[in-house]
Formats: sequence, C-alpha cells, structure tokens
Amino acid sequence: MKYQVTISNRDNTTYRVDNRRPLLDNLREQGVDLPYGCKYGGCITCAAKLTAGNVDQRRQVALNNRQINDGYVILCVARAKSDITLEVGVESHGSLFRNPFIDPLQPHELKADIATVKDI
Ligand code: FES
Repeated sequence: MKYQVTISNRDNTTYRVDNRRPLLDNLREQGVDLPYGCKYGGCITCAAKLTAGNVDQRRQVALNNRQINDGYVILCVARAKSDITLEVGVESHGSLFRNPFIDPLQPHELKADIATVKDI
C-alpha cells in the first residue's frame, strides 16, 4: 500500500512511499538527503519528528519513551501506516536530546524493557 509523506521543513514537499519498506529507503531513493548510520534502529542518527499520521516502528531500539512521546521516529525501520507529515534533519532534533544531569529521565520515560540489575 502507498501513502503520502509530507516533509514540512522542506517546503512541504510530498512523496509516495510503500508501507512495506522503511521510510529511510523510500525517501532516499526519491532523492531526499537524509542522514543514517546503522540502518537497524539502534544509533538514532536517522531520527525525525512525526507531526501527523502513524508509523510502525516496533523494530527500533534507539528511542526511550520520552522521545517517542515527543513524536520522534526512527526512519531506517519505521513504515508508514497512514499519510504522514515529518520534520527531518537537524532542525527536527530540538527536543531529541537533553542533558541527563540537569534534567534526568523519570522512570516512566525510560525504555519499557530496559534491563534491571537482576537481568544482567
Ligand atoms: S540509522 Fe541508526 S537508528 Fe536509523
């Protein structure tokens, strides 16, 4: 199935993407210059901000709950589940990272399946 992706911070340019393939591959093949590293959802390099619509990003392991709740998606594994709007690139990273010494994560913001001492 094909969905439309609008990139709001690139003049609202639109693209058609196949929902069976990761957004990163879909968009790069259509000429969108997007950064990436590992391509398996672990390094956060390809993070973008989802401002409308839904994606399936169950395979990502880079984001904590706070980042997910702030709308971040991992393009190398995320697949569109509807028409979506994204902000991409460094401009979208405003709240992606924060200083853990000044503003530590609360327990509910951690990864749901983070290892406990007993698990190690
Ligand atoms: S390229 Fe590493 S998380 Fe997407």
